[in-house]
Amino acid sequence: MESRQSEEPRAARFARYIEARRFDPPRPLLIKAVALADQKEHALDGGAGALNATKYLLSAGFAQVTALDAAPRAREVASELADDRVTFVLSRFEAFDFPANHYDLVNAEFSLPFIAPSEFVPTFARLLHSVKPGGMFTGQLFGPNDSWNVENSGMSFHTRAETEAFFRDFEIVHFEEEDHPGTTKLGEPKHWHIFHIITQRAAS
Ligand SMILES: C[S@@+](CC[C@H](N)C(=O)[O-])C[C@H]1O[C@@H](n2cnc3c(N)ncnc32)[C@H](O)[C@@H]1O
Repeated sequence: MESRQSEEPRAARFARYIEARRFDPPRPLLIKAVALADQKEHALDGGAGALNATKYLLSAGFAQVTALDAAPRAREVASELADDRVTFVLSRFEAFDFPANHYDLVNAEFSLPFIAPSEFVPTFARLLHSVKPGGMFTGQLFGPNDSWNVENSGMSFHTRAETEAFFRDFEIVHFEEEDHPGTTKLGEPKHWHIFHIITQRAAS
């Protein structure tokens, strides 16, 4: 049976996910986005989890990375990393005070769908506005065919048209849709409906 994420509290699932991801390499989408970044002063890793992307951003030359995650386990991973180029913020996206026009790159890998639906639009607008003019955004949104899209999931799902509309101030560099059965990192069967996105904010 496909996973509906209902069997286990979400915080416990995220802790298990973070353990499972600890030593995974960076994803190709992130590598592609980083290669397109003109400047590397400051990146945001939103929903940083096991900080895989944070570590890659540092190795790729970013001077500072802010890693944001609501999970206490992510904060523990950040303190084990003990790198003074990394600032960890324990916060939900919804409560984070995104600095405007600030980051050269905002990465949000498989984390945005966990923003509460009632707060998604203003939260995501503030996140996108934190990208500097000319800077990059990369991450994923989930589509309506995703098997986690059930009543009261607390998660956010968007059609392809809705997803594209969020990026009206951006040039779409990479847009890829996956819509097929698969498995989760925790080994459960799941139907994935994912939009993989790289965009560049228009220079002002
Ligand atoms: C599926 S994991 C992805 C983690 C990491 N980006 C990766 O790709 O391995 C989702 C992460 O988002 C975090 N998260 C979930 N909801 C969040 C929210 N509303 N605000 C901030 N972080 C959130 C979780 O704690 C978890 O670490």
